[in-house]
Amino acid sequence: MPAVSGGKFVVVGGASLLGSHIGELLLEADAREVVLLDNLALGSPDNIQSLLADERCTFVRGDILRLNELFDPFTSADGAFNVAGFLTAPIAANPWMGVDVNVRGAQNVLEACRLQGVKKMIFSSSTGVYGGLGDEPNDESSPLRWGDLPPALVLYCTSKVMGEGLARLYQQRYGLDFVALRYSAIYGERQHKRAIDATRMVEAYERIRSGQPPVIQGDGNQLQDYVYVGDVARANLLAMESDVSGEGINIATGVNTSQREIVDLMIKSCRTDLKAEYRDDATKKGSPATRPVFSREAAARLLGWEPGVSIEEGIYRLVEWLDKERTSSRAV
Ligand SMILES: NC(=O)c1ccc[n+]([C@@H]2O[C@H](COP(=O)([O-])OP(=O)(O)OC[C@H]3O[C@@H](n4cnc5c(N)ncnc54)[C@H](O)[C@@H]3O)[C@@H](O)[C@H]2O)c1
Repeated sequence: MPAVSGGKFVVVGGASLLGSHIGELLLEADAREVVLLDNLALGSPDNIQSLLADERCTFVRGDILRLNELFDPFTSADGAFNVAGFLTAPIAANPWMGVDVNVRGAQNVLEACRLQGVKKMIFSSSTGVYGGLGDEPNDESSPLRWGDLPPALVLYCTSKVMGEGLARLYQQRYGLDFVALRYSAIYGERQHKRAIDATRMVEAYERIRSGQPPVIQGDGNQLQDYVYVGDVARANLLAMESDVSGEGINIATGVNTSQREIVDLMIKSCRTDLKAEYRDDATKKGSPATRPVFSREAAARLLGWEPGVSIEEGIYRLVEWLDKERTSSRAV
């Protein structure tokens, strides 16, 4: 399978939270050429400014809904990472575009790989392929449960199932190798406000730094599995280099953290005496208070992947980055 060192790689959706971290790791791992392709519909050029200082890295403004815009960047690439996609909140804002990007865009990326002879594609999927979780432990064979979910979340979850299905089709028909990585809630440096749970981290930070108590909705027992973005980027490189193909693999910590614990860690990392304020806005409660953990047995067995950054350390890094951003925007 394609070795990263000495290879050429395209990161589709390269100006995203995750894509920018994948680009960074590819350069650190001695890739010969890294192309960051993005139409900047959601991502930001600020995310990749430092990467573009490296002459091996280029940015191409391209739209995955236009297959012709993928041909040149994909020429002689060894592998592609398809990170581009609409999360649930952008899908709720623009459902047709979101479904188009997540499904037809995913197919165009596969088609560009096929036409340009790219050996392997790593697809950014989601634990959303399971929909609402049941009571039993979750592993990769768990079914999709969507009956009780809000419509935009149903579209998101099923669009990721379609993305994985299309990748399987291309593997069977054309021999294109792929791995679909199913992430839980990603957070870290370059955090945006498009992901529902990680946005709460940023909102808590913003309130603390403006001298207001951070808000916890309900009793704060809502649980989520938060995985650090650098660990997710590392999983992408491991998947590219591994002999594994045709699999969907959970990339999650296997540890659930409550909203109350997240706010407590934010308070600690921001070194403030402010105390959290409890509110009861039903529309903002979000994740359930009980949920099984995601199994990461397959990620360990197939990719040798384990999360490296604890939630304490990850939130500390996020706060450090947010503080730097705040200082530099004030200096302008
Ligand atoms: N962030 C999470 O918590 C999370 C969790 C599970 C799965 N995922 C998946 O991982 C991937 C990356 O997540 P993220 O948070 O870094 O996403 P993001 O929202 O930061 O980035 C998505 C990127 O796709 C680009 N894009 C959108 N439409 C495009 C088009 N037509 N052509 C080219 N580029 C286009 C955007 O400009 C943006 O840079 C997504 O596919 C997402 O669904 C994310």
